[in-house]
Amino acid sequence: MKEYHPPLGCRDSLRLDFNENTVACSPAVREVLSRIAAGDLTRYPERAPIEARVAKHLGLAPEQVALTNGVDEAIHVLFEAFLDAADELLLPVPTYTMYEVYASATDAGVVAIQADDDLQFPFERLMTAITPQTKVIAIANPNSPAGSVSSREQILEIAHRAPHAVVLVDEAYFHFLGETVIDLVGVLPNLVVARTFSKAYGLAGLRVGVLAAPVELMRWIRRVLSPYSVNSVALACLPAALDDAAYINWYASEVTAARTEFEAALDEAEVRWWPSAANFVLVDIGRKHAEFVRHMHAAGVLVRDRSSDPGCDGRVRITIGTREQMRHAATALREAISAIHSEGDER
Ligand SMILES: Cc1ncc(COP(=O)(O)O)c(C=O)c1O
Repeated sequence: MKEYHPPLGCRDSLRLDFNENTVACSPAVREVLSRIAAGDLTRYPERAPIEARVAKHLGLAPEQVALTNGVDEAIHVLFEAFLDAADELLLPVPTYTMYEVYASATDAGVVAIQADDDLQFPFERLMTAITPQTKVIAIANPNSPAGSVSSREQILEIAHRAPHAVVLVDEAYFHFLGETVIDLVGVLPNLVVARTFSKAYGLAGLRVGVLAAPVELMRWIRRVLSPYSVNSVALACLPAALDDAAYINWYASEVTAARTEFEAALDEAEVRWWPSAANFVLVDIGRKHAEFVRHMHAAGVLVRDRSSDPGCDGRVRITIGTREQMRHAATALREAISAIHSEGDER
């Protein structure tokens, strides 16, 4: 296995590099945090009552829901539970890095399905890549780094075509898209859906994810899942986070408005971008992508170079925050673009 080192460190700038919430969590969560006493930490965390609460929120049975240490742990346990040597993981690429990282901890092979230049979901290609060896198909919806979408019909067709495989739909960015297949959990025997509290909810530091699966699959998943991987502070905060729908709705609509404005700024700067249904946008900077990222950083804006992703040479992903933050980012972008041009490069 290769080691994975996220490019963290020195992040006291406008952080548009990890698709985090760029403001804060709900004030209701802050209130819960302020009431946590040191004595509360002496006990091992008890996840079952909160799992039941999350299940109710999602319209599922408690047995269909497991809380995890972020979606990262959900991916890890799912792959541990279902991937063995000679099995195949189907992965439309480019996509979220950790699928490949956790797959490499198993002995399974990764079959990468490359998207075209438009970075749309490579549905037809994926359908023809399904074989008897396919054991897991991982689909981020919306996908990263471009924010492209797979339709409900496409997911249904894939699940029907691969009844012998687990189809993971990773809805980490659900709140920005507003469409889900979570209602099909338990209806389709092989569909698993993941959600996170790291993005719209603004709780990436607490590390909480949700894995929703039919009871039959969940029995295998729970064998692998560590019983205390979700800590008691995170568990204490979840009900308040879930109950404050107004906060999440406000944040998602602020990001959507900011994204539209920022796309207009990209057009003005003649920078190519890919339509996104998430809180980030992928832009084409060209050969001087690394210099661009450095210029942005110098202007106090962190962005993520995705050039090493398959089919993404020269492309940079920019998280969308509030309109005010994105106006600042757009100014930095214009200056960075003119700086790399005047350093003698054409995109
Ligand atoms: C598609 C996707 N899934 C999962 C995650 C990670 O979520 P978590 O913080 O819950 O581990 C990310 C984070 O960037 C992501 O882009």
